[in-house]
Amino acid sequence: MTHTTTILTGARANNDLHIGNYLGALKPMVDMANTTADKYTVQLFVPDLHSFTTEVDHETLYAMTMRNVKTYIALGFPVDHPNVYVYRQSFISAHSELAWILDCFTSFGELQRMTQFKDRSAKIGEKRISVGLFNYPVLMAADILLYGAKYVPVGDDQSQHLEFARDVAIRMNNKFGNLFTVPASVSEQHKFFGNKQGLRVRDLVDPSKKMSKSDATGKGVVFLNESTVSARKKIKSATTDSYSVVSHDYTKQPGISSLLDVADGFGGDSKEYIATHNYGALKQAVADKVAGFLADYQAKLASIDDRRVEDLLLSGEHAMQLRANETLDRVQRAVGLRAR
Ligand code: TYM
Repeated sequence: MTHTTTILTGARANNDLHIGNYLGALKPMVDMANTTADKYTVQLFVPDLHSFTTEVDHETLYAMTMRNVKTYIALGFPVDHPNVYVYRQSFISAHSELAWILDCFTSFGELQRMTQFKDRSAKIGEKRISVGLFNYPVLMAADILLYGAKYVPVGDDQSQHLEFARDVAIRMNNKFGNLFTVPASVSEQHKFFGNKQGLRVRDLVDPSKKMSKSDATGKGVVFLNESTVSARKKIKSATTDSYSVVSHDYTKQPGISSLLDVADGFGGDSKEYIATHNYGALKQAVADKVAGFLADYQAKLASIDDRRVEDLLLSGEHAMQLRANETLDRVQRAVGLRAR
C-alpha cells in the first residue's frame, strides 16, 4: 500500500447517531472523500472499544456497530473507492496495543485536564467513572497515530483530544526519532475542511449544551433514525430567546445560531433567514431541510444489503491490519520490546 496523506475519523456506536455527529464529523468526511479520495487515503471506522467508556447495552452493541457502518454508506461515503477503507477498531488489535504503550508516555495530570472527562465524570459520579473513560483520549490517539493520519474531521468537543494526540506524538518523536506523523493542528484542520469543521450543534432544548447522544431525555436531539414527524416537532419547539433578531452570535443567541448552522449544513442559506428576523420561518426552514435529508437517508439505509457490509469490512480490516502493524512494529522496536 502506498502511504499517501491520510484523512480519518470515527463515530461511536453505543447510541443512535444524530445530526450533530453528522454535521460535525461525518459530513465533512463524506464531502472530503467524495472530492479528494483520488489524492488521499480516506479511513472511516467504528470505534467500538470506545463504546464502553459510557454505559452501553451489550446485547445490542454489535448490531449498533454494524448499523453505523451502514450509516456511513447511506450518508454517501464512497466505500467502493480503492483509497477508502471502512473498519472496526476492535478487529485490529494494534489499537489496544499501541494505546498501552502511549499510556506509559502520558501523565495522569494531562488526562485529568480533559474537559470531556471532567464533564462526563461530573455527570455520572465518582463510583461509576471507569478507567476507560479516563483513558479514552489515549486510545483515540492510537487510532490516529497508527495510520499516520494528518487530517481528522471531528466536532469541537474532540478538539482537545486531537491536541493530545499531537502532544503525545511530538513527545515520542522527540524521544525516539521520527516515529509518528504528527496530525495537523486544530486550526490547520479547520483550514483544510473549511469553516464548518469543528462545529458544535447545540441541544434543541438547552442550547448552552452540545447536542449529545448521552442526553437521557433525547428531546433536544434529532437522531438520524428518527421519524420526520418527530424531528419536525423537536425543531419547531427548539428553545430560542427574546431578542427577536436572527443573528449568528453564539454568546448571546446560542439557540438561533445553532439553527442557522444546521440550516447551512443541510443546504440552506443562513443569510436568507438572517434577513427575515422571523424565528418561526427559520424553524420551518430548518425543519424542512432536516426532514428532507432524513427521509432520503432512511430510504438509502433500508436498501443496504448486510452481505455488502460484511465484504466491505473484511477487505477494510485486512488492509488496515497490515498498515497498523507496520506502525506498531516500528514503535515496539523503538521502545525496546523488539530487537532493533
Ligand atoms: P463521538 O462518537 O462522541 O462523536 C462522533 C463525532 O461527532 C462529533 N459530534 C458533534 N459535532 C458537532 N455538534 C455536536 N453536537 C456533536 N456531537 C458529536 C464529535 O466531535 C465526533 O467528531 N472520540 C470520538 C470517536 C473517536 C475518534 C477517534 C474520532 C475515537 N477515536 C479517532 C476521530 C479519530 C467520539 O467519541 O466521538
